[in-house]
Amino acid sequence: MGVKLGILGLGTVGTGTVQLIQDCAGRHPLLQDVEIYRVGVRSPDKPRAVKLPTSVFTTDLAGIVTDPQVDIVVEVIGGLEPARSLILKAIEHGKHVVTANKAVISRFGDEIFTAANQAGVYVMLEAAVGGGIPVIQPLKQSLSVNRIHAVTGIVNGTTNYILTRMQTEGSSFDDVLADAQRLGYAEADPTADVDGLDAADKIAILASLAFAGRIKLQDVYCEGIRQVSKTDITYADKLGFVIKLLAIAKTVNPPPISPSGYLSVRVHPTLVPKAHPLASINGVYNAILIEGEPIQQGMFFGPGAGAGPTASAVSSDILHLVAALKSSTATPNPLLTCAHQDYCQIAPIEELVTRFYARFLTKDQPGVIGKLGTCFGKYGVSLESVVQTGFQGELAEIVVVTHDVREGDFRQALAEIRTLETVDSIPSLLRVL
Ligand code: HSE
Repeated sequence: MGVKLGILGLGTVGTGTVQLIQDCAGRHPLLQDVEIYRVGVRSPDKPRAVKLPTSVFTTDLAGIVTDPQVDIVVEVIGGLEPARSLILKAIEHGKHVVTANKAVISRFGDEIFTAANQAGVYVMLEAAVGGGIPVIQPLKQSLSVNRIHAVTGIVNGTTNYILTRMQTEGSSFDDVLADAQRLGYAEADPTADVDGLDAADKIAILASLAFAGRIKLQDVYCEGIRQVSKTDITYADKLGFVIKLLAIAKTVNPPPISPSGYLSVRVHPTLVPKAHPLASINGVYNAILIEGEPIQQGMFFGPGAGAGPTASAVSSDILHLVAALKSSTATPNPLLTCAHQDYCQIAPIEELVTRFYARFLTKDQPGVIGKLGTCFGKYGVSLESVVQTGFQGELAEIVVVTHDVREGDFRQALAEIRTLETVDSIPSLLRVL
């Protein structure tokens, strides 16, 4: 008898998953044990890209997750509700769950994994981060003996595509976004991607796995890319950097050994040195750099979205569960379950110690750079470079890169600089990796 799947949703990821399972020749033989038993859709009569008997389709999604015949529920409808409730109901009815839903896991992981652990079932989420890139299982299994210091990722393809085109074409954010929407690379409502929210969901999940503690999504500092200008991209280029939207989870010194360590978890546009491995990740691709001891560095690279790659991740989770269902042990496999209970303590952004890039528009007068330097010095901000290359109308444009500084101190210096009569504005402020 096959292992019976109840698939919730037949959009891009659901369709890709059904296609992969149906085309199983040359893939892992366990796939042949998988039976697509029910598929929950809104419109059963809609023409579909996959062939399935009509009896498989139903509009009753709650009926799927409570059906005693279903072994594994595959949630690929996305969104918060009814996805969350259906996952919880599936768990309550003893089903293992595979989900691609980063929004639900990052917000309701606590509730979902607690319920799953009580019910003795697994919730698998390889497709929730990095599309086809294996990164969840590597963190849970292959790298689990490492003490992780940092997870740094380009985990949103839409923003990486936009920033890459701004960099190569010298175009503005608005122009590239409009074109990306026309070409289907960006959603009609691009908020979740360009404001960093999608990346925040993903780094919350990665941080939770890397640092073996739960993460409150509201503690993740989040800035998107709307304010990144072509001027900053050009200056960054001259200074030896590219600008990337990075999602970062990092231990705050000293690195904790206990599960609920002190972490900095954040998403923001970042100046990345051109020689850094993440600097060359372009277009819609994603990459996640994991640093720890003893591995040192390992980077996972690949397609972060798309039907085929995401179906690869969903199907690999299904296979793990098929294997678990076929094994005889009654004890949950600790490498598949999510066992940590404690919340990680997240450092406020003011405590972040990093380099900064800032662009100032000032009057073109003697002593302006001196005054900036005095203000920075007063708050212990040491400057790595100061460049004045251009003008915007009557105003001089000054770009500063600092040495490592506490963000709170840097912001105090900026607050004072804003009050200087010779300073017109500070159009850009970016962190440097
Ligand atoms: N919207 C995401 C991105 C893909 O642009 O990378 C799905 O996670």
